[in-house]
Amino acid sequence: MRLRLLRLLSSAPFAFLLSGCQGIQSALDPASRDARLVAELSWWMFTSAVFIYIVTIGLLAVGAGLFRGRKRLSFRSSTTLVILGGVCAPIIAIIAIGVSGVAIGDETEGAREAGTALTIEVVGKQWWWELRYLDEAGEVIAVTANELHLPVGERARLELLSDNVIHSFWAPNLQGKTDAIPGRRNVLFAEPAVEGVWRGQCAEFCGKQHTLMGFMVVAEPRDEFNAWLERQASDALAPPAPGLDVFLDLGCGGCHTIRGTPADGQKGPDLTHLASRRTIAAATLPNSRGNLGGWITDTHEVKPGALMPSFIPEPQDLHDLLDYLEALH
Ligand code: CUA
Repeated sequence: MRLRLLRLLSSAPFAFLLSGCQGIQSALDPASRDARLVAELSWWMFTSAVFIYIVTIGLLAVGAGLFRGRKRLSFRSSTTLVILGGVCAPIIAIIAIGVSGVAIGDETEGAREAGTALTIEVVGKQWWWELRYLDEAGEVIAVTANELHLPVGERARLELLSDNVIHSFWAPNLQGKTDAIPGRRNVLFAEPAVEGVWRGQCAEFCGKQHTLMGFMVVAEPRDEFNAWLERQASDALAPPAPGLDVFLDLGCGGCHTIRGTPADGQKGPDLTHLASRRTIAAATLPNSRGNLGGWITDTHEVKPGALMPSFIPEPQDLHDLLDYLEALH
């Protein structure tokens, strides 16, 4: 048992959680007004559930005769109790939860579309997230993956897409979850009230690596966000190096794009500014040289079922490749 617990804790995602470089992911630690409404409703539901549980257990105790000496209820009184507690109370509770849930949904979604400062297309892939930042004309200005940057205090419009199966985009510190459905364009709004880094994840079973389809959210001041976006929009800043030849020779460019180089594949994440990201493999591992090497040479140890095959280059080639990837700031 203890061994199993140790193995669980040492597995990649847990090791990452414990390493401290991961933002927290919690619906009970809201970083936006929308998430706060959801958290408050959760606490109301939890408190009510505890209250109802205590009352129910109390009645059960009375029924079981735990409090002797009390008069037994008449048939009429007990029937009234059953109708009130067993029929009326659940109906009232369900209506209250339904009405407040719908009201919060309206409040956090469509109702506040006006004044959105930014539109981002979020595309669910198997099993990672593509993020396309759009300009005011709706043209894509920057493409990145698995790390959503947002300016603090501004309302961003996220358009959720999928070109494969149904995913669900969930950044619980900022907003409730919304599905990304093939053929549809669902809209979600995110408005971080404070600076911070949080984790989010796919919340709809979508295949073998659903569990590790994570992403990071970074909320930063507008000027830092602008600098970040400008960099993301640019071609690769790393000069051509032997590692780029290794990248192309291995065929990585068939699936990955590095803007400004011949690598223009569309299947996998855009790697133009890979080194600027906090994580790799959809928020599964911190972005370090060792993890990058492990990911490339033993992909399916990290994520069984991942669509990327493993590559085992010659040692010097691997070092060149890692040098180059680490220069993609
Ligand atoms: Cu994508 Cu679950």
